[in-house]
Amino acid sequence: MDDERLLRLAYGSAHVRWGDAFGGMESACMAAEARLREGAERNESGFGWLCLPYADQEECRAVSRWLASFDAVVQIGIGGSALGTFMLAGALLHPFHNELPREKRGGPRLYVADNVDPGGLQAIWDVIDPAETVFVVASKSGSTAETMANFLWFYERLRNRLGEEAALARILVLTDPEKGTLRSFVSETRCRTLPVPPSVGGRFSVLSCVGLAAAEAVGIDTESLLAGARAMDARIVGASGLADNPSWILAALHVLAFRDGRNMAVFMPYADGLRDFSEWFAQLWGESLGKANLGSTPVRALGAIDQHSQLQLYMSGPDDKLYTLVDVERHRPGLAIPAGGAESLAPLAYLAGKDFGEMLRVEARATASALVKAGRPLLWLQIPVLDAYRLGALIFLFEHVTACAGFLLGIDPFDQPGVEQGKRYIYGLMGRNGFEDETTQVERHEAIMMSRMWM
Ligand code: PA5
Repeated sequence: MDDERLLRLAYGSAHVRWGDAFGGMESACMAAEARLREGAERNESGFGWLCLPYADQEECRAVSRWLASFDAVVQIGIGGSALGTFMLAGALLHPFHNELPREKRGGPRLYVADNVDPGGLQAIWDVIDPAETVFVVASKSGSTAETMANFLWFYERLRNRLGEEAALARILVLTDPEKGTLRSFVSETRCRTLPVPPSVGGRFSVLSCVGLAAAEAVGIDTESLLAGARAMDARIVGASGLADNPSWILAALHVLAFRDGRNMAVFMPYADGLRDFSEWFAQLWGESLGKANLGSTPVRALGAIDQHSQLQLYMSGPDDKLYTLVDVERHRPGLAIPAGGAESLAPLAYLAGKDFGEMLRVEARATASALVKAGRPLLWLQIPVLDAYRLGALIFLFEHVTACAGFLLGIDPFDQPGVEQGKRYIYGLMGRNGFEDETTQVERHEAIMMSRMWM
């Protein structure tokens, strides 16, 4: 690593607006931090992610070495049991990893089965060789209907193709060490398993085996990832006060912006590799903070693409958003724009010789400037390069910002009653015993919903 810088954060554009109230947030941030550290120390439910960068990874690494011996890894999970895997792969693997020859890939192909769309499931089955594939079934609760359905489908197909014993020899279960249907399945079948720490919630679990087992197997440098997370933790813990603490600054400004009517948080990285980071962040933010009629709505955007889709709205639409732009200082070097031989291309001479990475950075600066000109509040985050170390730092930072913002808003960032309600309705509608009341409720709601249907 050429240097260990984690990131730079510029927040003047937001500070201009809420600077007076900003300083007043320091004591609330201190209280939030104290609560976080206390919860982690006591291993309270929800707080365990703070300890993940320091956890012993030996068992997980041994399992990853086994996963790496296959041609393909299929992770089956949803929400926090899938989005972290997408995010790590999107940022740190070759964009067409699965299409590279094995020697260039450095690990198995990777697929994630999250939705229960039959087309997507069948598509995965179509491109794998079941004998050469391992299935990582990830569910903290061990009972989420979508994950269970996908698991049952792949398991049945595997058994039909290879027989029971061979099927079980290709399954790894990541779940709670004691509770849930998947844990009972492990006890019954003795298939391989790793425990998901009970104190770590799904959307905060990417730095546990839920994200790391497959990531390590496919060639991601998980040690650097964790080192980056530890470095960010040290940066937060060692900060001298609000204005020196990247997490507190981001949390405080998001909460102030929300209280001032900015009910949307736009996350707009300028790097294809961070596209899935936005998805992961959207779940983290939305599910952690959307409670008691509070919480800003996370909006995923990608520079430069969304300049040609959303920027008009961002600049001249309602002033109800806080923008976070992520700039990467060093993109892949050596890809320059050629001059083009034809005379008719002379108007494009201004592009000639410019590096694509530099152009992307110019795009980010242009958007930032346009937003500032329009008087829109923005946060500017700059990372030296998108590598495992910086990604680990970003992951830990945004987990911390989210948790901190939750305490500043006075809500519990670690529960998800809305998600649980949705799960209960699915159980009812799919005929699970004990959820009959939920089915009745859905029918009642549908009667209201459909009462003005027309064709
Ligand atoms: O953050 C959460 O708790 C949820 O979004 C879960 O990740 C999601 O519902 C999947 O749950 P599980 O891992 O228990 O299958």
